Amino acid sequence: MQSLQAKAAEWSGVDSADAFAIDESNLFEKLGLQAFVNLSTNFYSRVYDDEQEWFRSIFASSKKEDAIQNQYEFFVQRMGGPNLYSQRRGHPALIARHRPFPVTHEAAERWLHHMQQALDTSSDIDAESKLKMMNFFRHTAFFLVAGDELKKNQIQAQQPPPCKHGTSDNHHACKKI
Ligand code: HEM
Repeated sequence: MQSLQAKAAEWSGVDSADAFAIDESNLFEKLGLQAFVNLSTNFYSRVYDDEQEWFRSIFASSKKEDAIQNQYEFFVQRMGGPNLYSQRRGHPALIARHRPFPVTHEAAERWLHHMQQALDTSSDIDAESKLKMMNFFRHTAFFLVAGDELKKNQIQAQQPPPCKHGTSDNHHACKKI
């Protein structure tokens, strides 16, 4: 079976070397905390204002301020800064934390669209860092899509076989709901 990393590379078009170029230099030291706070604030302002209701609704159960803090703390930690995210939230476990949400190919593209716009309008991040970050985001977004597809397959495998008779109201697959 193809690994999640391999699927992420194939679907995103970003290979692992480019995705993890963020590890070659310390982007947190280069950019500073405020650049990350600004980026996540910019990103989530776009997401919570999205004209496309299907995408906006994915975030409906989270408060915008919390989503911003979760995101920039994770980015800071992942890009060479202090472990702010794990001190507050524990292990990132991104696939598990995205389990409640429909992380489809379309959702990944919409997420990346907003992130690209947020980066394009960030004057406190240089062009080279933007490119490195976007490659990491693109690869990670499709890594999460691959994780989401795994979840769907697991749920399918757990389904009882379709009922042949449709006679018993108590039978698990025959309930008319
Ligand atoms: C692919 C499309 C994506 C969708 C639809 C999506 C959706 C969501 C949603 C609905 C939340 C909950 C908001 C909150 O309460 O924090 C969330 C949280 C989060 N996402 Fe995503 N996300 C996507 C991609 C990504 C990517 C690419 C990254 C990292 C590069 C990422 C990192 C995070 C982090 C760190 C959190 C906070 C988790 C927590 O602490 O509970 N997400 N995401």
